Parts: sequence; structure tokens; C-alpha cells
Amino acid sequence: MQVRVNGVTLHYEIVGEGHPLLFVHGFPLSGALWQPTAAQLRGWRCIIPDLRGHGRSAATPAASIAQFSDDLIALLDAIGETRPVVLCGLSMGGVIAFDFFRRHRGRLRALVLVDCRANAETPEGRRQREELAQAVLRDGSRVAADAMIGKLFAPQAPGSLRTAWHALMSAAPPVGVAAAARALADRPDSGPTLGRIDVPTLLVFGMHDQITPPELARQMHAAIRGSRLELVPGAGHLPPVEQPDHFIQAIRTFLSGLSVLS
Ligand code: MLT
Repeated sequence: MQVRVNGVTLHYEIVGEGHPLLFVHGFPLSGALWQPTAAQLRGWRCIIPDLRGHGRSAATPAASIAQFSDDLIALLDAIGETRPVVLCGLSMGGVIAFDFFRRHRGRLRALVLVDCRANAETPEGRRQREELAQAVLRDGSRVAADAMIGKLFAPQAPGSLRTAWHALMSAAPPVGVAAAARALADRPDSGPTLGRIDVPTLLVFGMHDQITPPELARQMHAAIRGSRLELVPGAGHLPPVEQPDHFIQAIRTFLSGLSVLS
């Protein structure tokens, strides 16, 4: 489905019925990341957008973490979803989740933070992301796919998974990928946010994640009061597609605890 919000056309899927569960993918991925999860969850309205400049959504020359977050709010408004959502965000999706918590706390019921980090970008990281943005604008999104593919998966991931996700990243609109790379370079420091998080929070990280290693998960677990931590064996940066059964079980257990609270 498509909706026009904040001057851009976004693609999104809705799977199932029940309490709202908003899934936010990472860079430079798409909502396809959450298909195995949404297909197996019962009792939840899974709302799965492609962020602007990703997947089947239109691109804009500039983006920011706050803009992505505001797009999510506008999408929820457009589909009439006024209830507080459980927000499940992976990597850049987690960075967006921190902004969503800071500026849209009233729309949030709980957080699932998957393989993400809270710190601002380092000077060296900013330089690399700007280089990547320029290379993608010059030579296409395949450059970003080539840069990412070796770091996304655990060693035992099947070649078919790597091939499929390399193709998906290569197909993303270059203008959108460059804008998102720059948005990540400019992301605010969410470190101080961690101690303020007052919604139920689950952290799920792949044990073999090279981009956001489990050590980061342990630090966030210590900083977020009452959070739960699940480390997924056999997964790298993308547990929802590398170890879908384990990922779904972790989410189900967390969500069933929320139902008791509601
Ligand atoms: C992501 O999955 O969103 C990216 O790995 C974020 C990043 O490049 O740090």
C-alpha cells in the first residue's frame, strides 16, 4: 500500500490485526526484513513501512533521523492508528526509535531494539559515510551493498541470504541511500536517552554482529532500567532473517508480558 505523507510517497504493509506493532528497518534495507516475523505473529497489527528512500518508497535528496521518525507518526495518523505502538527497530531503525521516544513518547507503548547503537557518529565514521554517499550518487546503490554485505551476516549464513540481501540493497534508490547515509552521519547522541527510557524494552542482538557487537547490547541493557536482553546464537546484524524462529520466540515472550500489563 502507499500513502503520501510529509511530501513523500511511502510504501507500507499491514499484516494481522490487534495491538499496533511498528517495524522499522535499518540502512539501506527495507520492510522485507520483517516479513518472516510478521507472518508468524498472531494478535498484532504489524505495520511495516519502507522508510523514505528505501525499498519501494520514494526518495528525497535530504533526510534526517528526526524526519524518518516524523514520517512514522504521519503514517500512523494516515492509517488511523492512534494507539501507542510497540516500536521494533533494527540498527538505523533503533536510532530512529530513540528519536521517537524523545519526541513522540505519548505514541509509544514499548520498545524492541535490535542490533543498534546509541552513540553519535565518530569523526572518522562521518567521513566514511560522506564518502559512501558520494560514491552511491556517482556509481549507484550497489556500492553500498558491496560495502555492507560482508558485515551483515554470521559466518554460517547461507549464500542465498547474502545474494538476496545484496540484490535488495543494490535496488534501493541511490538518492535515498545517500540521504540516509548522511542522516546516520548527523545522528544525535542518544546515550543520554537510555537512562530516561521508561517503557518496557527488549534488546535483541545477534551474537556474531560485527556492526553493533553484543558488547553494545550489554551496555544498553545496563543503562535502560528494567530492560531485557536476548542474544541470538548464529545471527549477525540481521537476526529476523538469519534466525527467524529464535527472533520470533524472543518477541513473542516479550509481547505476551505486555498483554498482561495492558
Ligand atoms: C543499519 O543496519 O541500519 C546499518 O548497519 C547502520 C549503520 O551503518 O551503522
